[in-house]
This record gives sequence, structure tokens and C-alpha cells, in this order.
Amino acid sequence: MEDEEERSRRKIGPGSHEVRRHGSSNSSRLLKSWTPAAIFASFVTIIFCGSVVSWLDIFIFPGVSLRQIVTDKSGQREPPQKMEFLLNCTNSSTMHQTCPTNYPTKHEPEESYAVVCPEYFRWIHEDLRPWKSTGITRELMERTKHIAHFRLVIMNGKAYIEHFKRPFQTRDVGTIWGILQLLRLYPGRVPDLELMFYCNDRPVIMKSHYQGPEAVSPPPLFHYCGNETSLDILFPDWSFWGWHEVNIRTWANTYRAIKEKAKEIEWKDRIPYAYWKGNPGVSPNRLDLMTCNATDKHDWNARLYVQNWAAESRKGFKESRLEDQCIHRYKIFVEGKAWSVSDKYILACDSTTLMIEPVYRDFFLRGMIPMEHYWPIRLNNKCRDIKFAVEWGNNHIKEAQAIGEGGSRFLEENLRMKYVYDYMLHLLIEYAKLLKFKPEVPVGATVYCTETMACPISGPFRTNMEDSMVKSPSKSLPCTLPPPYDPRELQVFMERKRNNTRLLEMWEAEYWNNLNRKQ
Ligand SMILES: *[C@@H]1O[C@H](CO)[C@@H](O)[C@H](O)[C@H]1NC(C)=O
Ligand SMILES: *[C@@H]1O[C@H](CO)[C@@H](O)[C@H](O)[C@H]1NC(C)=O
Ligand SMILES: *[C@@H]1O[C@H](CO)[C@@H](O)[C@H](O)[C@H]1NC(C)=O
Ligand SMILES: *[C@@H]1O[C@H](CO)[C@@H](O)[C@H](O)[C@H]1NC(C)=O
Ligand SMILES: *[C@@H]1O[C@H](CO)[C@@H](O)[C@H](O)[C@H]1NC(C)=O
Repeated sequence: MEDEEERSRRKIGPGSHEVRRHGSSNSSRLLKSWTPAAIFASFVTIIFCGSVVSWLDIFIFPGVSLRQIVTDKSGQREPPQKMEFLLNCTNSSTMHQTCPTNYPTKHEPEESYAVVCPEYFRWIHEDLRPWKSTGITRELMERTKHIAHFRLVIMNGKAYIEHFKRPFQTRDVGTIWGILQLLRLYPGRVPDLELMFYCNDRPVIMKSHYQGPEAVSPPPLFHYCGNETSLDILFPDWSFWGWHEVNIRTWANTYRAIKEKAKEIEWKDRIPYAYWKGNPGVSPNRLDLMTCNATDKHDWNARLYVQNWAAESRKGFKESRLEDQCIHRYKIFVEGKAWSVSDKYILACDSTTLMIEPVYRDFFLRGMIPMEHYWPIRLNNKCRDIKFAVEWGNNHIKEAQAIGEGGSRFLEENLRMKYVYDYMLHLLIEYAKLLKFKPEVPVGATVYCTETMACPISGPFRTNMEDSMVKSPSKSLPCTLPPPYDPRELQVFMERKRNNTRLLEMWEAEYWNNLNRKQ
């Protein structure tokens, strides 16, 4: 089915003020009138119409669209002339690899209309709010030099990196690769800037240090995750370009593989329990979850498995393939040490995600709504909540399934690679506006380009790089950034999340009461 919605969305022209609120179909309405049969008709139809074609179209890669290929093969039209810039490795030695000089330096897409970005992009304004009135001085930015892993300088469309220290695995390299691809997707659109980037797990800039009468401005620091009490500026993590150390391919490829596999088993034919597999050792929270595993005495409806990454790595990752993990009706998400890159893989399955209340968040998780995109599980009541969720879902198949589909639809609509890049672009543009100094390339910084990064390496990292390489500038404009929330709007949004959760807690209390009365 052609995606009507997608087409009409594309018609929104530049300057149009229509704000399409992504992923905000109405769950509070859904909950209020929660009579099992009624609500879902509309919900479910929309989901089934959400076409795979439109997803692939943009998702495969910004460079080549599926439709374009199809048209070419049919031979009915002249194939559009699209220049592709492939990896040009001229020398196997890093030292002597040159950066190409023929890549376009301007972004001039054929299409002149822009869609409005997903709702969660509004958090860009929130993340930058601390510097909105004061701006950012060089002195302030450089205050994080001792904790940052690298400094990124963008100057005339080129990326320069000053490395301070090495993070775990190749997090910095993956992140820099992503930034280079952004520069290729939107040549000339990323403004000159300097920023500090931090690659470890937990947020570091704490609000409480910058409050009170004597308070100084917090330093701006880019990072993958934040929490309620932090001021880190959120940026997509490396895993979107793959995580070769644990055999995870690029997000585009992984998503496609998960979708393919998930199609094979319908929700109602999946195993009617809640599944989780991972490394429980990284947080007390995960260890605590393990107590919900089924035993002879108690069945909390959870099926939990330990992933031994070291053993998996030796055996070629045969038992950890993400696409093989969509055979249960319910999938549990639980954070690790901080945010977990697994959120998107779990949500992609079309199973119902039972999300243990995250304390940390990545850039897109903030836009997700309980009972619409996932089923919330309380941190301090995990086993009972899981038991209830599974019971309830198995007795309300259509509704539980719709929540699962709501989650994967959120990804389909809001987390295509194009939007990941758009998020980075808007964030960098808005950030650069705040700088009160002229960016400079520091002594000792290295200029990076796709060739100098990819040519010297081989193996799975190289494969991920080739798979995620942007081969030509985007055919379309970046989406247009929605305005900041006004305080009242933000309050309503947060309240909506809380209300959905509260209502669920009420049902559950009733369920346990009834159960106790029967016994
Ligand atoms: C690859 O790079 C070399 C050296 O910079 C250049 O001479 C050659 O034309 C490039 N090839 C392509 C296909 O761009
Ligand atoms: C690679 O670099 C080395 C060292 O400069 C040079 O001798 C060699 O000719 C180069 N190879 C190619 C294919 O350009
Ligand atoms: C946020 O993370 C920091 C550690 O990075 C931690 O100290 C703090 O307690 C966390 N805040 C909340 C609300 O959990
Ligand atoms: C949970 O129980 C299953 C079945 O008894 C078992 O195979 C699995 O190893 C258990 N998981 C954990 C984390 O103990
Ligand atoms: C949340 O619930 C309260 C009390 O039931 C209600 O007054 C309020 O309008 C709800 N807010 C939203 C955003 O749904």
C-alpha cells in the first residue's frame, strides 16, 4: 500500500507552519475510553497501512531511493542522473591516504519542500536552554577539557578532531564517523563550530552544581545520554553506525533484518511470555530483574537469559542475533549502567515492549509515551508488574498488540537514519548560534575524512562503515525544526505520560486485590 500519510506529509512546503506532531496519537484519549474493542479499530488500521516501502525508501540510504531503482529498471523514464561518491582508497597506509577534493561542497536538493521534524526534536531547545540568554564563551566550553574525550571543530565543512583520551572500545571513532557522514549528507549546512564530546556511560554535568545565588553557568558538553538531574547535551550514540565489537550492524541494516524476521511470526502466534536477554552484571537493576525469572514455585511470566558476550564472541555471535529475538509477545527493556542502545532493537520487534522505567534517556526516548509506545514497569515492583502486563495482554490481545505496534511505528516514523542526521544537524546549528567566539582549529588537531577513517581498516568495522557511508548529498531538505515547548505545553506533555502510568497502576492494584480476594 502506498503510504498516503507519507505523501501528504511531503507536500508541506518550506515556510508552511503546519506542525505535524509525530508519534503523538492520543493515548490519553485511548486510556480514558478504554473499552477493549472500541479504541483499536483506528489505531490498528493506521498501523497496517504504514508502508514498508516508504520506510525503505528513506531508510536504505539517503543516497539511493528504492523508487528510483524501480523506475530505472522499468526503463520508462530516463534514470535520474545521480552522482555517487564511493570510497576512494588510494593508499593502504593511513599516512598517505588522501581526502577527495571532488565531493560537493553545497547542498542543493531537487526537492524544495521540507517536512516538519518529529516532536522529540523540540528537546533540542530544552537541552540548549541553559545558554540561551548568556551564550557560550570559549572559556566556558573549554572547562570540560579534562573530562571530554575529544574536541570537534567544524570549519568550512571539514571536521577536525583533537583527541584528549580514549574511551571504551571505539565509541569516539564511531561517533566521528557519524559526524563525517552528516557533513556528506548536508554539505555546507553544518556551521563552523567547536564542541567538547564525552563518551562514557553516565551523565556528568549535574544541575545541582549550577544552581543558587552564586551559581556559574554550566559548561556545554555533548554526550549520548542524560537524566532528570543532568545538563549534558544529547547526541545520537555510535550504534546508529554499528557496534562491531558486539556484532551489531548499522541501524538501517539491523532494523531491516529485525523487520524481516518479525514478519514471520504474527504477534498472537508468539510465545506468550516476557523475554529478556542481556548482561545482568552491569547494573543492580538488571540483577534485580533476574529475580523475576520463572522458578518451580513462582511464575512471573518472565523468561530471562544471560548473554555472555565473551563466549558469544568466540562462537561467532550465533545466539545473540537481534533479529532472532522477536519470538515472544512481550520484550522487556531494562537499562544498563546508563542508557542502553538496546531500546531501539527491542522496540523494533513489533512485540509489546515492557519498559522498566528508565532513569537515563537518549535523544529520542524522551518523545515516547507509555501505553502508546510501550507498557511501563515500575523499578521497585518489577516482577508483579510484569506478571500483570503479560496476563492482561494475553487477555486483551488486540490492545497489547497495538501497543507493540505503536512502539515500532514510532521508530518507523521518527527514527529513520535521515531523521537521526536531521537531529544532529539542527542540534549543531542551534548550538553554533550560541557561540560567542570564533571557532579555530587547535594545534595538534587532525583533519578527518571518510577515506582516512575507512581505508586503513578491514573486518566488521569496515563493513559497517561501508554500509553507512553517505554516497551523495541528500535529495531532500532537512526537516524543519519545531518551536520550543512553552512551559505549559511541556507540563501537559509530562502530565500526559504520568496520567497514563497512573491509570495503569490503578488497574493493576485492582487486579491484585481481586486475586487476593479469590485466594
Ligand atoms: C580517487 O582518488 C585519486 C587520488 O586523489 C584520484 O586521482 C582519482 O580520480 C579518484 N577516483 C575517483 C573515482 O574519484
Ligand atoms: C602510497 O604511499 C607510499 C608512501 O608515500 C607511496 O610510496 C606509494 O606509491 C603510494 N601508493 C599509491 C598507490 O599511491
Ligand atoms: C543522574 O546521573 C548521575 C550520574 O551520572 C547520578 O549521580 C544522579 O543521581 C542521576 N540522577 C537521577 C535522578 O537518577
Ligand atoms: C531463567 O530460567 C530459565 C528456565 O529455567 C533458565 O534456562 C535461565 O537460565 C534462567 N535465567 C537466569 C538469568 O537465571
Ligand atoms: C491528567 O489527569 C488529571 C486528573 O485526572 C486531569 O485533570 C488532567 O487533565 C490530565 N492531564 C492530561 C494532560 O491528560
